[in-house]
Amino acid sequence: MNPVHFEDCSFLNLQAYFSSHPFSSVYVLADENIVLHCYPKIVSYFPPHRVIQIKSGEENKSISTCEIVWQKLTAANADRKTLLINLGGGVIGDMGGFAAGCYKRGIKFINIPTTLLAMVDASVGAKCGIDFMRYKNQIGLFNEPEAVFIYTDFLETLPERELRSGFAEVIKHYLIADKDAFEEVRSQKSEVSSIKWDTVVRKNVAIKQQIVEQDPTEQSIRKALNFGHTVGHALESFFLNEKQQKLLHGEAVAIGMVCESFISYRKGLLKDHELQQIAEVVLQYFNHTYIAEQHFKSITKLIAQDKKNEADETCFTLLSGIGSYTINQLVEKDLIRESLVYFNSLH
Ligand code: GLY
Repeated sequence: MNPVHFEDCSFLNLQAYFSSHPFSSVYVLADENIVLHCYPKIVSYFPPHRVIQIKSGEENKSISTCEIVWQKLTAANADRKTLLINLGGGVIGDMGGFAAGCYKRGIKFINIPTTLLAMVDASVGAKCGIDFMRYKNQIGLFNEPEAVFIYTDFLETLPERELRSGFAEVIKHYLIADKDAFEEVRSQKSEVSSIKWDTVVRKNVAIKQQIVEQDPTEQSIRKALNFGHTVGHALESFFLNEKQQKLLHGEAVAIGMVCESFISYRKGLLKDHELQQIAEVVLQYFNHTYIAEQHFKSITKLIAQDKKNEADETCFTLLSGIGSYTINQLVEKDLIRESLVYFNSLH
């Protein structure tokens, strides 16, 4: 796995990287918020480059945005020795890695994540892709960045809702791999605005790297990282198409973690008090979202389409206690519906 560097405001690792890696041209992929808030803090450490600015938001993680990137690269005659710098959150990193992987059969890219979600999850582990039709990350590939450079001070520019969204992935890591850290979150009840991110991000990158290194292409244990995401992705896709209410990725995963903990409990894998503790922590950080029963059918249909399924079977990663997991668990539709009813009952 390529290196993940932690930076302070002098960006020494980034500077060393550019002085030892010559490129024919360099492009920075960023959205309008990043161009405004983060780009000015780092631009002086970049070699001469052009910016490709795209529109923010999950709805723009699409093939048409990739076309814009490819058009700009093609119009400027960018060759295979070009570098793409993905400066931004999960959408920029996932889509930039995908666009880089396809342009002229692959150019190099680095990730400089600016959101908590991208720092602890999306920028590490080589999953790249775009949403297609109603499905999250339906088109994609495994494509490793040359390196990842993490500067946690970027989080100071992030709205609290975005920080909470990223915190869902932190809770997920602790639920699958670190019982003590989960207990710490549960007992400290800290506001996201008062958390010391440097330590948290380092710990979470280490958890993720340790899993990904053992199973880079998700044949087995990397599936642990999908906990909360089978229901979560379906909810995120469903609400993406609902005009009145959109859920951020982490908000959908937070609901997904409660539902999938309920399923774990009903399958005898998780104790009653553990389920309650998980629901309590999730509801401490996330407002409750009521999921109208009339939507259950569409949501279970989206779950049936999940790319983690095999043949016709819906495959989940479930918890077998706090801090441990079990993969490839088949779950019947009725139990998925019941988990949504359980989540609604917490309102
Ligand atoms: N976000 C889950 C993974 O990288 O496998």
